[in-house]
Amino acid sequence: MAQSLTYNDKIVRQFAVMTVVWGIVGMAVGVLIAAQLYWPALNFDIPWLSYGRLRPLHTNAVVFAFGGSGIFATSYYIVQRTCHVRLFSDRLAAFTFWGWNLVIVLAAITLPLGLTQGKEYAELEWPIDILITLVWVAYGVVFFGTIVKRKIRHIFVANWFFGAFIITIALLHIFNNLALPVTIGKSYSVYTGAVDAMVQWWYGHNAVGFFLTAAFLGMMYYFIPKQAERPIYSYRLSVVHFWALISIYMWAGPHHLQYTALPDWAQSLGMVFSLILLAPSWGGMINGMMTMNGAWDKLRTDPILKFMIVSLSFYGMSTFEGPMMSIKTVNSLSHYTDWTVGHVHSGALGWVAMITVGCIYSLLPRVLNLKSMYSTRLIETHFWLHTLGVVLYIAAMWIAGVMQGLMWRATSEDGSLTYTFVESLKATYPYYLARVGGGVVVLVGMLVMAWNVYKTMAMARDVAPVEIPLRTAAHAGSGALS
Ligand code: HEM
Ligand code: HEM
Repeated sequence: MAQSLTYNDKIVRQFAVMTVVWGIVGMAVGVLIAAQLYWPALNFDIPWLSYGRLRPLHTNAVVFAFGGSGIFATSYYIVQRTCHVRLFSDRLAAFTFWGWNLVIVLAAITLPLGLTQGKEYAELEWPIDILITLVWVAYGVVFFGTIVKRKIRHIFVANWFFGAFIITIALLHIFNNLALPVTIGKSYSVYTGAVDAMVQWWYGHNAVGFFLTAAFLGMMYYFIPKQAERPIYSYRLSVVHFWALISIYMWAGPHHLQYTALPDWAQSLGMVFSLILLAPSWGGMINGMMTMNGAWDKLRTDPILKFMIVSLSFYGMSTFEGPMMSIKTVNSLSHYTDWTVGHVHSGALGWVAMITVGCIYSLLPRVLNLKSMYSTRLIETHFWLHTLGVVLYIAAMWIAGVMQGLMWRATSEDGSLTYTFVESLKATYPYYLARVGGGVVVLVGMLVMAWNVYKTMAMARDVAPVEIPLRTAAHAGSGALS
């Protein structure tokens, strides 16, 4: 009975800590592979340290382990507080924690061993895919079960974003991973040729749209108003933003396959939908920014808000850049170059990582019954390290990318290529070194965060543990955001 009057914050704390742990692991692997591109000998001639095996380990660790844990932590936190009820099932929630972490550990073992389906962001082999499905179904039951038993009628907009994310990822995961298993560690996709590519990039792009965007917009809609102590600038715009975004994202996938064997009309369709996508993306960004109206002065003193607002700027930047890159003529220059990698990390390190880090700093003291983190100055230090590192990383990749594209297409008067591939590679080297530098700075920032989290948890141990009571509609104040 006592339990039903409190939130389940244990699960939030567990996922919050793992967000930091997996963030450090994933980014450390990122730094290692960035260093391997500059010093190839860093694979020590050991197959499981080779670039081709560690690269998917990096992407899986940062997207699914770091980003995923952040999403679990914040969605469980938000859904309880906006529905004024405890999670639907503590046991199922605990299953999602242990199950998800098992998936990550299995990924960390199988990917370096070279066991892979060979599909980007869907590398894990079929037994792990089945485990992911089970965890995901449990997540859906916990999340939607909590929504069903909510105490207030209105479903706060952040929950719409999380809900759409959960359903879409289930759909993408199942259809893209349909495969015929031949052994425990090997399977073949049921799709072939261009259809396989199309399904893969329908998956890949919506993994960006939902795993790397929709869920983080859910975080944004709860935590920016909370941290700024202002209502959302326009609730109506947030609803329009939601429907427009989820209905357009689905059609943009073919922009990953410009100038391939995919039918021409499908490529053009992908381009057009990508251009339209700019509107809802910027609508959401502007809604978040304008929420700061009347609270801009807080940016001077609150580094958590700095994380959130700068993350929104990166969101705006990458969702402007993406539609531009989807234009066929631009894509003919950018594809295959490091420009794409720059775009990826302005979205991933700028938008995804910064909003996640900001939200974890914001919620952790609350679920530990403390007023604030151990050190605000360390958050400020982290903010500057992260920002500096990201800017160094993406600026290096943009310059390298455009340079590569221009070198590869340059022709001499007699029609022959002006530069050999190796010449373009040599010209890229200084930028690869700059990226290693940027990555190291970001990683140091994450270590600062880990120390701050550790000290905050140590502080909480000295405070008598108090379970936070549910807010009832009677004392929740106005609106669902409590
Ligand atoms: C210290 C921070 C990081 C460093 C040093 C780093 C480094 C790298 C490197 C070297 C690559 C391979 C690029 C290539 O093959 O040419 C890569 C790929 C990638 N990284 Fe990171 N990364 C970092 C953080 C992150 C984060 C936080 C995320 C996501 C939340 C992320 C998502 C990705 C993705 C999706 C790719 C694949 C890009 C593509 O296929 O075009 N990275 N990263
Ligand atoms: C309006 C929004 C966006 C559009 C239209 C868009 C468009 C694009 C385009 C055209 C490419 C290059 C495809 C290629 O040449 O292979 C790309 C790559 C990519 N984008 Fe975006 N982008 C958007 C937002 C974002 C955001 C916010 C993120 C991350 C949080 C992101 C992550 C990625 C990743 C990971 C790739 C590399 C995929 C791969 O090749 O492995 N994008 N995007």
